[in-house]
Amino acid sequence: MLRLLLLALPCLGGSVLAFPAQGTGAELVGIVGGRNAPAGQWPWQVSLRKFNKHKGQWTHRCGGSLVHPKWVLTAAHCVMLTTLKAWDVRVQVGHVRLYESNQLTRVAQIIRHPKYNDHLRAKGGADIALLKLEAPVALSQYVRPVPFPPASLSVPEMSCWVTGWGMIESNRPLPPPWNLQQVEVPIVSNERCRRQYQWVDISITEDMLCAGARLRDSCQGDSGGPLVCYMKSTWLQVGVVSFGHGCGLPNYPGIYARVSSYVPWIRQHVPLQP
Ligand code: ARG
Repeated sequence: MLRLLLLALPCLGGSVLAFPAQGTGAELVGIVGGRNAPAGQWPWQVSLRKFNKHKGQWTHRCGGSLVHPKWVLTAAHCVMLTTLKAWDVRVQVGHVRLYESNQLTRVAQIIRHPKYNDHLRAKGGADIALLKLEAPVALSQYVRPVPFPPASLSVPEMSCWVTGWGMIESNRPLPPPWNLQQVEVPIVSNERCRRQYQWVDISITEDMLCAGARLRDSCQGDSGGPLVCYMKSTWLQVGVVSFGHGCGLPNYPGIYARVSSYVPWIRQHVPLQP
């Protein structure tokens, strides 16, 4: 349990309470408002681990997505400390449950976006980073990279999906056996999102994307994970979980790094797939 509580630390707005589970035993399993993801449904989902000395265990800290057999996309704030070295981080691919296997993949290099600002953190934008794996992972029904969109993509106000092992409400960790959660979230236009966020002094910039609704959101521990939309008969990763004001609050959708804004940067590092 404690291990998941530690996740809340690097996140903004972690102290704002989301709506409680409405008394009546209305079961809230979820990211926020989500349900168990079946194995193989989101084969690009990655769990980013850091070693916890107290537990003597590689502990889940963030999400990520496989974008190439050798590359993982995540949030810059997940690998924020410049003192953090590649060997301090490992990833798990191909499992919907955390800790059911202890096969982790080593990371060879961490590349944070050069515009990510350590002081402003997620609020400053460019909350995106790449992890180069030591060796390519073996692809299968459960392990497959997610395509990313063309730089020109503008995401309409449609329904998309976000996945992760993060909190199911603010300060309420996902219980064992820690099955990956999925929730359908509506894309909110930047214009509307900007108006909603003006009251809490957060500016929504063009390289951010908003998605979510009351009781449908990502939360602490989901950061770095993928927001995907089914478009042109394929899943495309349009966002990386970044931050938000609380989780699942009405009129405060989750804020994501807009992947299409970073395609040229990703392409600079990640080769086209073999
Ligand atoms: N910063 C959080 C993390 O590190 C993600 C928060 C997402 N919040 C939201 N309301 N969608 O895991």
